[in-house]
Amino acid sequence: MTDYEGFRIERDDGRAIATITLDVPGKLNRVPLAARGQLAHLFAEMAEDEAVRYVVLAGEGEAFTAGGDIAAFLEASPEHLSRLAWNVAAPERFPKPVIAKLRGYCLGVGLELALACDFRVAADDVELGLPEVGLGMIPGSGGTQRLARLVGLGRAKDVVMRRRRISAEEALAWGLVSEVVPVGELEAAVDRVIADLDQLSPLALRMAKRVLNHVYDAPLSIGLELEGLAYGLLRTTHDFREGVQAFGDKREPKFEGR
Ligand code: COA
Repeated sequence: MTDYEGFRIERDDGRAIATITLDVPGKLNRVPLAARGQLAHLFAEMAEDEAVRYVVLAGEGEAFTAGGDIAAFLEASPEHLSRLAWNVAAPERFPKPVIAKLRGYCLGVGLELALACDFRVAADDVELGLPEVGLGMIPGSGGTQRLARLVGLGRAKDVVMRRRRISAEEALAWGLVSEVVPVGELEAAVDRVIADLDQLSPLALRMAKRVLNHVYDAPLSIGLELEGLAYGLLRTTHDFREGVQAFGDKREPKFEGR
């Protein structure tokens, strides 16, 4: 098994779930610089691995993470830092669903990683924030961009420029997380998301993720064209035919991912 710096991976092969857990005891799961590249490699490997259909990103213990390892930022070159966003975008590039399981502190790169996931499920003790400006820096792994797109420029400025912490209640109201549950129910809430997805065609899910992510910042005409092309392509698959036929036959579809 590969040793990763600051996180571990566990696989539930029966359910095709890989769980990545940020884990730095006593340091609120701070994310080492090396972990970012390792995470990106791991996601790229799992993209090709048919035994993995879902990835859950979590934190050990009572926090997701308090952010990047602050001291390490002075050890990295400016060029290295300017490329951090590529690694943190790995969950977004990953073709299959990624669920962020959030509790406690979800700060800095923690929020940036969560923003690159498809679903964010949070416990009611979650505290989200991008405090980097207080360190004389800015969120440098996609935080300024993805947060503003998701919750609007005004709210993003409050979070980034004023270092406003976002509570679970606000995160839900802003659409930043899809669900808030008591801490003890977080595991079950994540399982419910996966159970819902598990009913669906993995192929249609992949295509939906691809189209949603790629057209997000494209002009409407290009986005609509891409959506149309993807739709047409799916028409040639077994799962599309099966979904339509099962509806007509009044039975549950049997999707095969082809
Ligand atoms: N990088 C490096 N170390 C961190 C860290 C980070 N992002 N966040 C927490 N730690 C370390 C602390 O230095 C401390 O280590 P120590 O016991 O050896 O001194 C340990 O984790 C526990 O943190 P502590 O600050 O004592 O806990 P707290 O409950 O008093 O405060 C926070 C929690 C989250 C408010 C505080 O740790 C904090 O502000 N962290 C930095 C958040 C941040 O700016 N993130 C963005 C980084 S770019």
